[in-house]
Amino acid sequence: MNLFNVYPLYDIRPIRAEVCYIWDDKNIKYLDLYGGHGVISIGHSHEDYVERLKDQLDRIGFYSNSVQNPLQVELAGKLGKSSNCEDYNLFLCNSGAEANENALKMASFITKKKRVISFKNSFHGRTSAAVAVTDNEQITAPINKQQEVTFLDLDKIDQILYELEKGDVCAVIIEGVQGVGGLDEGSTDFFKRLEKGCNENDVLLILDEIQSGYGRTGKFFAFQHHGIKPDIITTAKGMGNGFPIGGVLILDRIKAELGILGTTFGGNHLACSAAISVLDVIAKEDLIANVNTVSTYFFERIKEIPMVRKVKGRGLMLGLEFDFEVADLRKKLIFDKHIFTGGSANKNLLRILPPLCVTKEQIDAFVDALKELI
Ligand SMILES: Cc1ncc(COP(=O)(O)O)c(C=O)c1O
Repeated sequence: MNLFNVYPLYDIRPIRAEVCYIWDDKNIKYLDLYGGHGVISIGHSHEDYVERLKDQLDRIGFYSNSVQNPLQVELAGKLGKSSNCEDYNLFLCNSGAEANENALKMASFITKKKRVISFKNSFHGRTSAAVAVTDNEQITAPINKQQEVTFLDLDKIDQILYELEKGDVCAVIIEGVQGVGGLDEGSTDFFKRLEKGCNENDVLLILDEIQSGYGRTGKFFAFQHHGIKPDIITTAKGMGNGFPIGGVLILDRIKAELGILGTTFGGNHLACSAAISVLDVIAKEDLIANVNTVSTYFFERIKEIPMVRKVKGRGLMLGLEFDFEVADLRKKLIFDKHIFTGGSANKNLLRILPPLCVTKEQIDAFVDALKELI
């Protein structure tokens, strides 16, 4: 059997990884400034994480959600404290798209409405409702068109309030900072007025923190830069440092009903162990402080590259906008300088999503490489 060929691949075969580095089958060492799409939070193969997963596997890796799993309770408690979101309840699933599916479903169950407001350039996943609220025609199949979705401009609050007042909207879904779309984000005034508009019109505000959460922007969740309180928050990527896990945080005024959501694999013992270990390491190593320190350093050093027209994003969720398309530069960074970076819908934007433990010296290596290449 061959693979169903859907990914354009770089010809690199990673076989080992440690902290911010990856080694391929030819023993070439790469600096990972992309974290496999913003997934690696605490660093590759962190020893506490590896030990915890091995230990858990020796005990029990999986049983179904029809029995007690104290690891889920421990994870919810730790996540509430770490994120300062103790007044939310946690539903566990396996991926970002799945988290958004469940969030949208809850919003529709609760409000008994079905239209969703989403934003231009948004990305929320590739499954049914998640892809329907994603602004990308190319990955939306005819079957996904059955969802009622209106795409609006970020920051154009009057347009949004006009739509909310029509009375048929169940949810507004918005990324804390847009990832795939190119690092745009709403202003604080926009987020505050959006929150108010949702509250006044019986609409749930869903913050997609799948990429922007878990400390990546310098606060646990990106919306915390704006002092708002979403009804639902979705997480994945950095949550498991590579182990598949997603979460839906639901404000506790929204009551659960038995059977309303469910999953076979979500919240299994191994996934919970990975996610607990991630939170422990973020606290033990004060990784969110490191995000802020290294980010400030990055913004300073990148001024030395005049061809960078603009630096977008926050913390270690960054986009460097050049006045040329970056595909070639990205290739040269990988093959000549052995540094992984990312692309985005904006072809002039180079995305930087390193592990949260990246060092100033590693940023120096990147800036030096850029200087030599352009
Ligand atoms: C903001 C955002 N939401 C949702 C998703 C979908 O996550 P997954 O690929 O785990 O389904 C992504 C993935 O890139 C994302 O960046």
